Amino acid sequence: MEFAIEGKNLSKKFGEHLAVDAINFQVAAGKIFALLGENGAGKTTTIHLLTGLLKPTAGEIFYEGIKASRKEIRSQISVTGQFAALDEELTGRENLEILGQLHSLPKKTARKKAMELLKQFQLEQAADRKVSQYSGGMKRRLDIAASLLGDPKVLFLDEPTTGIDPANRRKIWKLIADLAKKSGMTIFLTTQYLEEAEILADYVTIMSQGKIIADGSIQTLKKQLPESKIHLQFSNEKDFQKAQLVLIGEKIALLPENKLEILAVEKVQKLTSLFSKLADHEIVVSDVQLLEPSLEDVYLEVTKGGSSHAMVS
Ligand SMILES: Nc1ncnc2c1ncn2[C@@H]1O[C@H](COP(=O)(O)OP(=O)(O)OP(=O)(O)O)[C@@H](O)[C@H]1O
Ligand SMILES: [Mg+2]
Repeated sequence: MEFAIEGKNLSKKFGEHLAVDAINFQVAAGKIFALLGENGAGKTTTIHLLTGLLKPTAGEIFYEGIKASRKEIRSQISVTGQFAALDEELTGRENLEILGQLHSLPKKTARKKAMELLKQFQLEQAADRKVSQYSGGMKRRLDIAASLLGDPKVLFLDEPTTGIDPANRRKIWKLIADLAKKSGMTIFLTTQYLEEAEILADYVTIMSQGKIIADGSIQTLKKQLPESKIHLQFSNEKDFQKAQLVLIGEKIALLPENKLEILAVEKVQKLTSLFSKLADHEIVVSDVQLLEPSLEDVYLEVTKGGSSHAMVS
C-alpha cells in the first residue's frame, strides 16, 4: 500500500538534544492521523520536518511513496501552526482574501473562496470584524480555513484545540471530521488530548521524549490503554450495599462515602449496562462521575514492563 506520507528513521537534533529520535510512521491517504504527546514530546518538530520548515538531522520523508525534497514538500502541503499567523488588524474576510492571493488565486476567485470558507467555518457573522476582536475558538477556525486556501492534499494541524473551550472544541472537531469525510484530504494532527485522538483519528501514534512509544488504530490501541473509571455515588448505605451485590462480576473498588468505582473499557456501554442493572433493582444513583485516563496513565501503561517501544498494532 502506498501511503500519503511516510517517515523513515526521522531524527532532529537541536545541539545535543534529540527532539525527534529515529521515528518511523506511515500516514494512510484520506485518513486522520494523530500524533499524541505531552509538552516537549517532539510533535511540532515532527510537523516542521514533514512540512519542510526544518531539515532532518537524519532519516527520510516520502510523499505518496516518493522521496521528497524540502522544496517539493512545501508546494504540496498546508500547515496550521500552533500559534496562528493571522493579521489581527484585518478582518476575517480580508485575511482569507489576501492569503488566497498569496496562494496565486485571482482576486475574484480568492474573494469567492473566502466567502465559501467563512460559511463553512461558521464565521459569516464575524466576517467583517477585525480578527483582534475574535475569540480564541474563532481565530482557530479562521486559521484552519486559511490553511485550506491552497487546496492542500495534506492538512497539518498542530494542536488545533489547545486552549479552546469545550463548546468550541466540539465545533472544531466536527469541522475536521467533515473535512476528512467530504474532501478525502489526509489530515495529520497533533494533540495532547487522548479524547481528541479517540474522537477524530483513524490511526494514533503516541510520542514521548522524541520517541514513538505506541501506535495503532484507535480500536487496537484502546485495548492497551488504561480503563476509564466510573464513580457511582449512592445517597444511603443500604443502596450502596445492594449495588455491590447487583454489580458482582464488575471490576469494582469501594470508595469512602458510599461511592463505587468501576473500571470500563467501553465507557458508554458500561454506563448504560450499570444503570440498567441498578434500575432493575430499584437502586438509585445520586451522582455519577466519569474519569478518563490521563496521558500520563497512558504512558505508564504502554511503557509498562520496561519496554521502551510497545507496538500494539
Ligand atoms: N528551535 C529549537 N531549538 C532548540 N530546541 C528546540 C527547538 N524547537 C524545539 N526544541 C526542543 O525540542 C523538544 C521538542 O519540542 P516540540 O516543540 O517539538 O514539542 P511539542 O511536542 O510540540 O510540545 P508542545 O506540546 O509544548 O507544543 C523540546 O524539548 C524543545 O525544547
Ligand atoms: Mg508543539
